[in-house]
Amino acid sequence: MAQALKRFENKVVVVTGRKPRHRTGYIGLGIAERFAQEGAKVCVTANEKSVHDAAAQLRERGFNALSVEMDVTDKAQVVAFYDEVAAKLGEVDVSVQNAGVIIIVKLPELTESEWDKVMAVNTKGMFLCCQEAATRMLRAGKGGRLINTASGQARQGFVYTPHYAASKFGVLGITQSLAKELAPTGITVNAFCPGIITTDMWSYNDEAWGKLLGDYQPGELMAEWVANIPMKRAGNGGDVAGLVAFLASDDAAYITGQMINVDGGMFMS
Ligand SMILES: NC(=O)c1ccc[n+]([C@@H]2O[C@H](COP(=O)([O-])OP(=O)(O)OC[C@H]3O[C@@H](n4cnc5c(N)ncnc54)[C@H](O)[C@@H]3O)[C@@H](O)[C@H]2O)c1
Repeated sequence: MAQALKRFENKVVVVTGRKPRHRTGYIGLGIAERFAQEGAKVCVTANEKSVHDAAAQLRERGFNALSVEMDVTDKAQVVAFYDEVAAKLGEVDVSVQNAGVIIIVKLPELTESEWDKVMAVNTKGMFLCCQEAATRMLRAGKGGRLINTASGQARQGFVYTPHYAASKFGVLGITQSLAKELAPTGITVNAFCPGIITTDMWSYNDEAWGKLLGDYQPGELMAEWVANIPMKRAGNGGDVAGLVAFLASDDAAYITGQMINVDGGMFMS
């Protein structure tokens, strides 16, 4: 059983974009919990205060967890963040770039600042974290793992979200390019594509797409989309964490530049 494994003892793992446990679910939390359960020293970060509650929840369960507020779109904050991680936990071994935003809006109303915000967090912010983490891994000479959260929208653009689709296709391009550059160094770079995972983001998606696509009551649009997933259920943080932990493990040492779906069969490519 995966929870009984201790694949990451003494490893330092960073997870960006992590909310505390709450009613809707979680991706970043599921990932961080899995690494903590397997013995890692975990640092979680987001650009909101609640990230400290998330780390506190892990510490209450006896895990080694640090939290730092940080905006992934600001290079100076990203550099300072990895400095703090190194000082308090040790140099990063695994960096999971998971922070992300979505804005659902019809084409004529999509503003330049909305386009810029989504690209800044999902693509530039992800790149800045990869760049800083990889630079440190190269300096330490011990290899490492970069794992990037993409989306089903890195496979196929959905309606009313061209900026989000562009940002997630960008995640794939960066992942492949960095994977090629870093391949000889023992640093692997992979991405994963969640389908529908119950989180705050999907509560927003349900409401915003529901309004624009028809007369949906809360929860109806999500239920309709989930009914079309071959496994007939939405995913959860644990579903995602299993894949991410595998990609970070020694068993995945020969896998790089890949983008793997974790979506109950929603996309098969
Ligand atoms: N929920 C899904 O079904 C789904 C599907 C596909 C992809 N994803 C991706 O999974 C990732 C996590 O999404 P989620 O559903 O947990 O969303 P969420 O909104 O619940 O969490 C997103 C997190 O990103 C953080 N964040 C946003 N902007 C930031 C910034 N500038 N700097 C630092 N942190 C920032 C937020 O603080 C939050 O903790 C995102 O990259 C999202 O695009 C989610």
